[in-house]
Amino acid sequence: MLKHEKNGLFISIEGPDGAGKTTQARLLKTRLENLGVEVFLTREPGGTPVGEEIRKLLLNPEYSEMTVACEVLLYSAARAQLVRQLINPSLKKGRVVISDRYLDSNIVYQGFGGGESPEIIEKINLWAAGGLMPEITFLLDLDAQTGLKRLQEGDKSGKWQGDRVEQKGLDYHCRVRQGYLELAGRSSGRIVIIEAGGNSDAVHEKIWQLTEPLLRKKNLL
Ligand SMILES: Nc1ncnc2c1ncn2[C@@H]1O[C@H](COP(=O)(O)OP(=O)(O)OP(=O)(O)O)[C@@H](O)[C@H]1O
Ligand SMILES: [Mg+2]
Repeated sequence: MLKHEKNGLFISIEGPDGAGKTTQARLLKTRLENLGVEVFLTREPGGTPVGEEIRKLLLNPEYSEMTVACEVLLYSAARAQLVRQLINPSLKKGRVVISDRYLDSNIVYQGFGGGESPEIIEKINLWAAGGLMPEITFLLDLDAQTGLKRLQEGDKSGKWQGDRVEQKGLDYHCRVRQGYLELAGRSSGRIVIIEAGGNSDAVHEKIWQLTEPLLRKKNLL
């Protein structure tokens, strides 16, 4: 087990495809930086050079034969590297770490969505992450159809095909959303459901209302 360095604040942003995670992670980072707070923003899978290579494998539509078990292990490998190389050192320096997806994504996508055991996925990943979990997780809740529509409309080429995950059927994406809600029910102390159907600024304000007091409590603001 890694020693946990929790001088900073670890936040993750979760939610189905197209819910607005990346948009919200960036808005939060900018707001914090404007207030003089040091922020480390990362994304999953990836974040480190090793992890970005793993990301390419995971999202490549050519590998349609990839098994769910293989996916679980690749994601956890990328996370093991990210936690040790970047997240823990940033927390130790007192930074706010924002992760665009984290361990919950695997429980939901490969577990609830992909049919592997959510409990086993959680165990493997907790080990890989050295037990490090976010202090707060914002779950951007949006129906699957709207999320996929946002991604399609946001694609400038007009020929959106989606990556390997996004290409899975609507049924899969509906299971993902339900999985997230179930997980939130089980981890209500950590996961906060944010209704993500409104415009980006409105969603950001909801996130900010919850982040600000946490930062003040930790003397980071
Ligand atoms: N609140 C919002 N209302 C409408 N459109 C939005 C909103 N937030 C983000 N978008 C747009 O929807 C698309 C998807 O947003 P974003 O990339 O932030 O989602 P994501 O959850 O990170 O997606 P992915 O799961 O693919 O990583 C983008 O084109 C973005 O500009
Ligand atoms: Mg994103």
